[in-house]
Amino acid sequence: MVKPDFDSATTAIGTPNIAFIKYWGKRDDSGLNTPNNSSISMTLDETLSTKTSVLFSERLGKDTLYINGDEEPIEGGRISEKSAYLKRILDHMKRIAGVDHHALIVSENSFPSGAGIASSASGAATLVFALSEALNLEMARKEMSITARQISGSACRSLFGGIVKWRAGTEKDGSDSYAEQVFDSSYWPELIDIIAIVDSSKKRVSSSAGHAATVKTSVLYGARPAFAENGVSEIERAVAAKDLNRLSMAIMRDSNNMHATMLDTWPPIMYLSDASKDIIYKVHELNESEGKCIAGYTFDAGPNAHIITSEEHRDRVMETLSEIDGIRETIESHMGGGPRLLGEKDCLIDEAGIAPKNSNTRKE
Ligand code: DP6
Repeated sequence: MVKPDFDSATTAIGTPNIAFIKYWGKRDDSGLNTPNNSSISMTLDETLSTKTSVLFSERLGKDTLYINGDEEPIEGGRISEKSAYLKRILDHMKRIAGVDHHALIVSENSFPSGAGIASSASGAATLVFALSEALNLEMARKEMSITARQISGSACRSLFGGIVKWRAGTEKDGSDSYAEQVFDSSYWPELIDIIAIVDSSKKRVSSSAGHAATVKTSVLYGARPAFAENGVSEIERAVAAKDLNRLSMAIMRDSNNMHATMLDTWPPIMYLSDASKDIIYKVHELNESEGKCIAGYTFDAGPNAHIITSEEHRDRVMETLSEIDGIRETIESHMGGGPRLLGEKDCLIDEAGIAPKNSNTRKE
């Protein structure tokens, strides 16, 4: 194995994915994020992205992580569950690479965190990709997918571009629970995701807490895994045929089904806002007026809508959205190709190699 060059940083870019059939509910509380059902998603292009620079150096006294300019503790007592996993993964990857230097990791999102646009998926996938490259681990994407899954389940899909399927798997250790590409990003270039931001504040119930509460208390949830497995096959058929009507329908049914199990959770979890519901009604009106589905909405663990449509119908969809109060911004994204390396000019670590560029300049 080639030894890593400790004094030069590695920078990568990765993107979120939007699930057409959602992951909601884990098989157990092992922390491995093994899901109860398979899911399928579209990886977005770099309109929204995470950039991550990683540096291993003997000059560093501890592992340090900065997200959007702020230090996120990854060692010591008061760290989040996700940071604890991240640290375990970092240690694990260092061990395999035979590296004992500390790491400086600097990550920046180009979109609001915690707004249901899966910043954790984009962040974790990009981090695992960057670490693997920085440590010269030559990991296969499948291995990266399994690793990223353990930081945040949906992240395992962001290791690939295009349309990506995450097979739930059955093994207790999660070794057969990983994502793979089903169609590459050039297969259906006209497909777009119009993201309607209605609220960019942090969510009230984290998705990790939501997964557990729904599995534990929802009566409706029992029917979800089988419904979702069928949905994944339906999406594969719809994409293969480039059938927007069929695709949109399956996407909307799955989003509604997942949010129904959330509402059925005790105490109930409601991620949709009044503006989200207006979007739902308006998209149905639009589809009815067209006599077929030309657009499909889907919502993650948050109120922002992702409207899947094709370029041909973009103007009609935008016109419909313009009639809704409460949409603060729309962002349009095509399918993207998954994480890739960037050059030195994009490095987020300063020339001395010991601190992030712009540190402490972005605090509100
Ligand atoms: C609603 O991947 O954020 O976006 O594994 O606990 O990190 P953890 O959960 P997370 O759950 C995302 C769920 C979802 C649907 C999806 O992306 O499939």
